[in-house]
Amino acid sequence: MLRVQVCRGMMCSSYGGGRRLEQAFEAALRAAGVADQVELIAPGCMGSCSEGPCVRIAGQKFYHVNPEDLPELIAKEILPRLSE
Ligand code: FES
Repeated sequence: MLRVQVCRGMMCSSYGGGRRLEQAFEAALRAAGVADQVELIAPGCMGSCSEGPCVRIAGQKFYHVNPEDLPELIAKEILPRLSE
């Protein structure tokens, strides 16, 4: 199971991240057919507030992640890790 963290901190949430981004992530993972292989986790502040919304995939941070970025992020950063 691949772990993906979607920051739930106040700053990331105010930039459009948080629960809204997490829900969009869930939908995008379902659309990609890999929702059952990815565990979404919602940590508190990940220490990069000014770069939010922040996401961490298998330990690597991604910044300024918006819902429209998710299909590309999943294709480039999640699908290859699932096939390793
Ligand atoms: S609130 Fe998301 S990194 Fe600080």
